[in-house]
Amino acid sequence: MGISVTINGQPYDLEVPKDTPLLWVIRDNLKLTGTKFGCGLAQCGACTVHLAGQPIRSCVTPISAVAGQEIRTIEGIESVAAHAVQTAWEKFEVPQCGYCQSGQIMAAAALLATNSSPSDTDIDAAMSGNICRCATYVRIKSAIKEAAKNIQAGGSNA
Ligand code: FES
Ligand code: FES
Repeated sequence: MGISVTINGQPYDLEVPKDTPLLWVIRDNLKLTGTKFGCGLAQCGACTVHLAGQPIRSCVTPISAVAGQEIRTIEGIESVAAHAVQTAWEKFEVPQCGYCQSGQIMAAAALLATNSSPSDTDIDAAMSGNICRCATYVRIKSAIKEAAKNIQAGGSNA
C-alpha cells in the first residue's frame, strides 16, 4: 500500500519511498511545477506549500510526514487571503524573475489567513525565511499591506 496524501483537494495513493521529499512528489510525480526548488535545505522558501493552512518547506518534508494530511500548492490555493494576495501581487507587479514568487505568495497567504491586519514586524517575521535574489522585498511588503486592506474591506479574515 502506498502513502495517502491529499493535494489541492485531490486524494493520492503514492508508491514512493517514505523519505521522498514532498517537493519531489509535487513536482516530479504530480507535475505541479509552480512550487520551486531553491536550496533544498529549508533556507530559501522557494518550495513553500501549505500543510493544514500553515507554510512548510516541502524540500525537507518527507512524504511520510504528511501522510493522511491536506497539502495545498500554489496551483490549489483558493482562500480569501490567497485571492487577495494574488490580486495585490498583480497590482504591484511584484515578480522580477519570478522564481521565488510562489513561495512568497504561499507565505503571505498563510500570514493573512490568520492575521488580516499584520504590523510591519508581523510581516517581517512571517516573510523573513523567503529569500528573493531579485530583492523585490519592498514590493512584497506593499502588496501584503494592500491585500490586508482589501481583506478588511471585504469583511473577511480568511
Ligand atoms: S528549496 Fe526548500 S527552502 Fe529552499
Ligand atoms: S523575483 Fe527573482 S528571486 Fe525573487
